[in-house]
Amino acid sequence: AALRSSTLLLFGATGDLSRRMLLPSLYALHADNLVGDDLVIYGTARSEMDDTEFRQFTKDALCEFLPEDRKNEGLIDSFLERIFYQTLDASTIDGFDDLAKKIGDISGGLSIFLSTAPFLFEPTINGLKSAGLAGDNVKIGLEKPLGTDFESSMVINDAVAAVFPECRTFRIDHYLGKETVQNLMALRFANMMFEPLWNSHAIEHVQITVSETVGLEGRAGFYDDTGALRDMVQNHMLQLLALIAMEPPASFDSTAIRDEKVKVLRSLRVPNDNDVVTGQYGDGAVDGQPVKSYVDDFGGLSRTETFVAIKAFVDNWRWQGVPFYLRTGKRLSERRSEIVIQFKPVAHNIFKDKAGSLASNRLIIRLQPEEYVRLLVMAKEPGLDREGITLREVPLDLSLTKAFSHMRRRIAYERLLLDLIEGDQTLFVRRDEVEGQWRWIDAIRAIWQRDKNMPKNYGAGSWGPSAAIALTERDGVSWND
Ligand code: BG6
Repeated sequence: AALRSSTLLLFGATGDLSRRMLLPSLYALHADNLVGDDLVIYGTARSEMDDTEFRQFTKDALCEFLPEDRKNEGLIDSFLERIFYQTLDASTIDGFDDLAKKIGDISGGLSIFLSTAPFLFEPTINGLKSAGLAGDNVKIGLEKPLGTDFESSMVINDAVAAVFPECRTFRIDHYLGKETVQNLMALRFANMMFEPLWNSHAIEHVQITVSETVGLEGRAGFYDDTGALRDMVQNHMLQLLALIAMEPPASFDSTAIRDEKVKVLRSLRVPNDNDVVTGQYGDGAVDGQPVKSYVDDFGGLSRTETFVAIKAFVDNWRWQGVPFYLRTGKRLSERRSEIVIQFKPVAHNIFKDKAGSLASNRLIIRLQPEEYVRLLVMAKEPGLDREGITLREVPLDLSLTKAFSHMRRRIAYERLLLDLIEGDQTLFVRRDEVEGQWRWIDAIRAIWQRDKNMPKNYGAGSWGPSAAIALTERDGVSWND
């Protein structure tokens, strides 16, 4: 049964994620009456502050990051009444007893969220344990990155597991909190028309693009140690791939769904060297504005990839021979997260002599910035052709933004924080998923280390290095640009 909590404890409460996402999300849950009246929120970080100062800090963050139409003085004030703060240096065990004293009674259940640097995870967890904040009714949420490779992720997971069993461990991948990502499951498993075609008999290839226009956003040190493969592919893109490729789970239940995702991750074939392209942005222009190269942004030469494209295969019956082309990068032409399902040609073209060639059906699932599902189908152009009929590819469009226009678009952390408080693990990453992801990523990085390849230059504002275009073109495939 789900384990609800009436206390939430936030580590890293004064950090950037907290200001931009976590505090506004908690406010939204409060404003929409989605959390119980009894929910109390404790923030903690190294900054010296008392409750009043942290409430002001929270108010400032809400004023800065909430959309105008969501700011309500009365609701903000009642939200602030739930909030308390305790200064704590999580790297030493000393302050944890005071923290526990401040929180007091946790018999209503405690949810803890670690939005701190991963090197603090282990000392924090030990501190929590020693202060009696790790009992049976305590759950722990972990923000990424969970390690930098398989081994370091094992160290973190082992340290967590020594205190919190898997059923009380909630690993965040914020992509899973996005409505449109959850919609992938709705599309596949709540409709009859897709699933019978969702396999290598009907599908020629799949494309997954997560492109960004932003650069380093003040995270040069972190990003240079990480790179696009580990920052985006290991987590977000492999989650998208798993949701697209997984077998239908027996039920909408966290174990059933995660079991199926793990099978996909374990079926990933290690790509050949020439099925992976890396790039690093040079000077260029994004949205008409000139931008500097990565070397300038970072402040030195670097081998770190800011772009990666991979031709991947899922080695199982359903997907045999179907390439999954993945690409992601910073400073690309536009911000877009999109999945393209390219179907095979019709079995027999009766229009051959009359209407020319047929385009094969293509299903485009746009996750952001717009949200739509578009199916490209062949249709007859109106008119009285002497020779036969003229066919044209037309979109069958479902705009989710329009269909649900009266509903507010929530940010991912609203869903994830609510699920953490309520104890629902469906949208959190299980340990064996993380392990499957890292095994594949490490295998790719091992090839890079062996071959000492340098990332290829691409102009900021482009779609990445030309080799990424060649990666699909040599299979006769074009990216959906
Ligand atoms: C984060 C990465 O996990 O995801 C960032 O660390 C990236 O580099 C971000 O910009 C993208 O998230 P979203 O929600 O903007 O697509």
